[in-house]
Amino acid sequence: MKVAVIGADGQLGMDIMESLHDLDPIPLTYPAVDITKRAKIRSILGEHQPDWIINAAAMTHVDRCEEEDAQAFYVNALGARYVAEASESLQAMLIFISTDYVFDGKKEKPYVETDAPGPLNVYGLSKLAGEYFTRAICPQHYILRTSGLYGVHPCWGKGANFVDKMLELARTQKSIKVVNDEVLTPTFTEDLSKQIRILIDSAPSYGTYHATNDGECSWFDFASEVFSITGIEIDLRETTAEDWNAPAKRPAYSVLENRNLRHHGLDAFPHWRDALRRYLEKRFGA
Ligand SMILES: NC(=O)c1ccc[n+]([C@@H]2O[C@H](COP(=O)([O-])OP(=O)(O)OC[C@H]3O[C@@H](n4cnc5c(N)ncnc54)[C@H](OP(=O)(O)O)[C@@H]3O)[C@@H](O)[C@H]2O)c1
Repeated sequence: MKVAVIGADGQLGMDIMESLHDLDPIPLTYPAVDITKRAKIRSILGEHQPDWIINAAAMTHVDRCEEEDAQAFYVNALGARYVAEASESLQAMLIFISTDYVFDGKKEKPYVETDAPGPLNVYGLSKLAGEYFTRAICPQHYILRTSGLYGVHPCWGKGANFVDKMLELARTQKSIKVVNDEVLTPTFTEDLSKQIRILIDSAPSYGTYHATNDGECSWFDFASEVFSITGIEIDLRETTAEDWNAPAKRPAYSVLENRNLRHHGLDAFPHWRDALRRYLEKRFGA
């Protein structure tokens, strides 16, 4: 079985490469492989003839997507389209990584795969357009929506992940403010990558799958847990999204229920607290 990973040097892509290492996956990385180049992506994938294509490439900086909206759509929507076209022409199975930000956050209980999307920002809109292209063009697809990714490899689109940012701020500031009115499920890329491996090995019915660690928390709760596990004493204060005033609006509640994975008996995600502890151990030692 041949698997091609687009965005293989990204935060998630690197862990996917590891979870598939025994399959000798084909790493495809920017700029040699640019998903916005329709003919090129088709010919590169055609040369490799993969059975599976994982599209983990995206413009991931949520605030920058507001400003650079055309580029966001170019990569996240049209790029997804071109990968879907190539997958379909090769009859390869396609995994497209999407986001909790396709939802508007008004539901107040975990979103399931059949809930209507309603993105609040350009990033979410562009990823949703990528989902639509994927569904419309390539029937043999898995759309995996995930949330608040962090992993041991750098996130090229965003810089340091949230956990590392908190630890860095604690080194340089006496007091840190964190938003407490955005609730999600932060997800460890290692756990998501293992879940992707399970999906490939079991190839359940095609469609959309929510794929996050278990449980839920606000960014403030998440930061509190980081400092509790590491034993760092810091003056951590709650703030609101309104006070924070980021360029991109974010959903107040974007927790995803992994209903389809559970339905197929495939949900292997541990709780986010367990994931965070393992991340910190892996990153900084016990
Ligand atoms: N990070 C999160 O919190 C989060 C949450 C939910 C969903 N997701 C989704 O998860 C996936 C992986 O994100 P990540 O966290 O691993 O981000 P990342 O580290 O920024 O990885 C994205 C990768 O895409 C590549 N890329 C950008 N433009 C490209 C193009 N035109 N053609 C080919 N490759 C291109 C980047 O390469 P360069 O760095 O060289 O540009 C990078 O390797 C994305 O689909 C993202 O939308 C992420």
